Amino acid sequence: MERGTFSSGLAVFFATLGSAVGLGNIWKFPYLTGQYGGGAFLLVYFLCIIFVGLPVMLSEFFIGRSTRKGAVGAFEKIAPDTSWKNIGKMGVAASYLIMFFYSCVAGWVYYYLFKAIRGDFVSITMESASVQFGSVVTSAVIPLFWQCVVMAVVSGILILGIRKGIERVTKTLMPLLFVLIIICDIQALSLPGAMDGVRFLFEVDFEKLTGTAILTALGLAFFKLSLGMGTMITYASYFTKENNLLGTGLKVAASDTIVSLLAGLAIFPTVFSFGLEPGAGPGLLFMTIPLIFSQMPFGSLLLTAFFFLTAIAATTAMLSLVEVPVAYLMEEKNIPRRTAVLINGVLIFAIGILATLSADKASVLGHITFMGRGFFDWFDYLSSNILMPLGGLLIVLFTSHVVSRRSFAQELTNNGTLKIEWFLPFFFFVTRYITPALLIVIFLNAVGIISW
Ligand code: PHE
Repeated sequence: MERGTFSSGLAVFFATLGSAVGLGNIWKFPYLTGQYGGGAFLLVYFLCIIFVGLPVMLSEFFIGRSTRKGAVGAFEKIAPDTSWKNIGKMGVAASYLIMFFYSCVAGWVYYYLFKAIRGDFVSITMESASVQFGSVVTSAVIPLFWQCVVMAVVSGILILGIRKGIERVTKTLMPLLFVLIIICDIQALSLPGAMDGVRFLFEVDFEKLTGTAILTALGLAFFKLSLGMGTMITYASYFTKENNLLGTGLKVAASDTIVSLLAGLAIFPTVFSFGLEPGAGPGLLFMTIPLIFSQMPFGSLLLTAFFFLTAIAATTAMLSLVEVPVAYLMEEKNIPRRTAVLINGVLIFAIGILATLSADKASVLGHITFMGRGFFDWFDYLSSNILMPLGGLLIVLFTSHVVSRRSFAQELTNNGTLKIEWFLPFFFFVTRYITPALLIVIFLNAVGIISW
């Protein structure tokens, strides 16, 4: 099969950023930071990005670009006939679990876009904002309809293969999303009592830090940077051979974190100014953003633009998610692209129904729980907090113990042309010892085997 590469360094950056930036920044990051108490959670999240996220990301870049294969094939090529390729299979499983609930939340975003166009948020108040969100998540029909629309759009784009079109669209729309979030920030920060929100976000209080909070921050770092499940391996297999992997990794991680912080700086001042609950959960975004814009000139127009761009960000992140099982079916099972996309689209929607109907305690299937969690929460918990960090652990063990250090160094320096030798000893030390140790300790702490 002919394997394409991205056209330039800039295309590599935008495609990778397109996968990283999504609902994770705008929806998940703020609501988890709110639930787990603000500053201390944020600090652990930063440390996870630096000491776990970046090493795993560079390891995935190396595996993907040096083999030019998707998640399963790449391991097979480096270590033939070993069980390492199961990491890729685990990644396929993780990507399904994510898509079950991701498509549900993307459906809410599409619906909010529709509502913004219809003018549903004119003269909205705090009470009506939460009533509106409540009626969406508890409805049996509306969220399913929009989830179906999301899957149809994602599958349609993947079948048409208008990757170039998507690339071009993201290149112009991502910066626009950035500008709109900054407008939100300015507005939110000028609300009365806004500083309480900023304080909440940045004030570190270690009292609030539990084992579960640390595991959640770690899971969020994986989810945010699309790590531990093969997306970055697959994308790196399309990177140009001149690309500076370290530079791309640093730029993507930094930009992604900035977008998350900007989203937090729009949401928390609004939460505190309107007296909402920072730990309100998955509805936080949907209740605060309409409130911010309702106070502004041209608010309806800007609100429509905001949900439009968020829908685009969610859709492009989904493309990279669906690409993992699609590439697997195509490469390993010889199924044509169109069939692979259709199988996945139908399967994700069918099982995704369970997530959508259990997103809230008052949803149709909200009463069905196992060990305190419903389907929606289980899909999220298993993928972000278990499979992705476990995938990350196995990936760094693979690159630091199975692969020769020389070939990793060659890939990172582009055969010696990049002068980053000074960085390598530090990097290999972190990848070999610090990252696996942190991952193991966080796991053991979260399951209660050790505690501090
Ligand atoms: N990183 C994406 C987001 O923040 C989600 C994602 C996870 C995409 C895993 C691909 C793989 O929304």
